Amino acid sequence: MKFLITAGPTREALDPARYITNRSSGRMGYALAGAAKHDGHEVILISGPTALDVPAGVDFIHVESAQEMYEAVRDMVKYADVAILCAAVADYRPVAYSEQKIKKDGERLIIELERTPDILGSMRDVFGFTGTLIGFAAETQNVEDYARGKLERKKCDFIVANDVSRSDIGFDSRENEVALVFPDHTEYLEKDTKEHIAMHIIEHATIIRR
Ligand code: CTP
Repeated sequence: MKFLITAGPTREALDPARYITNRSSGRMGYALAGAAKHDGHEVILISGPTALDVPAGVDFIHVESAQEMYEAVRDMVKYADVAILCAAVADYRPVAYSEQKIKKDGERLIIELERTPDILGSMRDVFGFTGTLIGFAAETQNVEDYARGKLERKKCDFIVANDVSRSDIGFDSRENEVALVFPDHTEYLEKDTKEHIAMHIIEHATIIRR
């Protein structure tokens, strides 16, 4: 099977020296790419900036902004049987980019932000993707309820949900504890390394028949 995986944060530039970003090491997405490749699948990894090595044998596309990630996914989605959107995409970007570095001027600075394109939300209705679709949900409360809402709105086959209010898992950690939220049930995976969790997710992704 062919997997398309997004990973890492995006960077939304304000000026040549500054950007808005999300907390994300990219480890979960890179672990998914490695696990899928290890299982004999073809993998396209579309990633924002991270400090990680690209798993051997994976096709890699580097992007910076949400807009670049959107365009890369749009162009590559036709090759995929399974898409796992794990990236921590910035939801907002500065309305204006300043070609010159913004100088200190006054005690307050107001920056106007606008929405970035919703990549996961575009997969079915804009890109026409008919394969298996898996999204991630980072929540701080009502994890399962919010994830189920996301599952329905974005027409996913399942959502990998985690509680980002906990400091021992997720984000910069090597471990994670997630729930796989399906339309009719939820499966809780025990706390484990991101590599082991990735193996479970890939296994579930390959058995869904659409
Ligand atoms: N995502 C995306 N494009 C965006 C924002 C998010 O593809 N512009 C994807 C992420 O990769 C993840 C999923 O959407 O798979 C969940 O992101 P999140 O921001 O938690 O979900 P939202 O539906 O935007 O909901 P909310 O911000 O209300 O929690």
